[in-house]
Amino acid sequence: MDDSSARGYHPVTKIFHWGILFLMAGQFLVGYTLARLEDDDLIEDRLFTLHALLGITILVLSIFRLTWRRRQGLPPWAPTLTPFERRYSHTVERILYVLVLAIPLSGLALALADERPLPLIGEVEISDTLDDSEVEDVFEGVHIATHLVFFAVFALHVGLVIKHQLVDRDGLLNRML
Ligand code: HEM
Ligand code: HEM
Repeated sequence: MDDSSARGYHPVTKIFHWGILFLMAGQFLVGYTLARLEDDDLIEDRLFTLHALLGITILVLSIFRLTWRRRQGLPPWAPTLTPFERRYSHTVERILYVLVLAIPLSGLALALADERPLPLIGEVEISDTLDDSEVEDVFEGVHIATHLVFFAVFALHVGLVIKHQLVDRDGLLNRML
C-alpha cells in the first residue's frame, strides 16, 4: 500500500518528524532568549515576531502531521518492542502530539492577553472586564508548564529509542531515518 513497510516510516512521516524537531529546537532557543530580554527592547520585538511565526508554523505543521498520521496509518510495530513498550510508545506519542498543539496555543493565548501586537494581525483588544494581568499570568503559567512537561515526555520518547539502540541493538532508530 505504501512505504510504511515493516522496515520503517513513510518518507513524509520522516520529514514531519525531523522537521518539527528542528523547528522546536530553534523555538526553544528563541523562547529562552526572549525571556531574558527587556520588554521594550527592539531586539525583543523582532525576536517575538520570529517566536510567534515559528510557533504558528509548528502548530499548523503539527495539525497536518496528525491528519497525515490518521489517514496514512502506521507501519507494523517493530517486532522487538514488547507489549509494554508498545503501550508506552503509543501513550508517549499521543502526549507529544497534545503538547505540540498545547504549547503554541497557550503562547498565542498569552500574547493575546498580553496585548502584544501579533505578526500580520497587530494588537488585539481583549475585553477589559477581565483583569488582564491575571489572565496573562494563567496563560504564562500554562505556556511554561506545557513546555516543561514536553522536556520530560521528550526524554521518555528518546530514552526508549536509546535503550533499543544501545541495549537491544535492534536499530529501532533506522525506522525513522
Ligand atoms: C511550539 C511552540 C512554542 C514553544 C516551544 C515556545 C517556547 C517558549 C519558551 C521556552 C519561552 C520562555 C519561557 C520562560 O521560561 O519564561 C516562551 C515564552 C513566550 N512565548 Fe512561546 N513557545 C511556542 C509558541 C509560542 C507562540 C505561538 C506564541 C505567540 C504567538 C508564544 C508566545 C510567547 C510569549 C509571549 C512568551 C513570553 C516572552 C517573554 O517573557 O517576554 N509562544 N515560549
Ligand atoms: C533526538 C530526538 C528524537 C529521536 C532520536 C526520535 C526517534 C524516533 C524514532 C526512532 C521513532 C520510531 C519509533 C518506532 O518505530 O516505534 C519515532 C517516532 C515518533 N516520534 Fe520521535 N524522536 C525524536 C524527537 C521527537 C520529537 C521532538 C517529537 C515530537 C515533537 C517526536 C515525536 C514522535 C512521534 C509522534 C512518533 C511516531 C510517528 C509519528 O507519528 O510521526 N519525536 N521517533
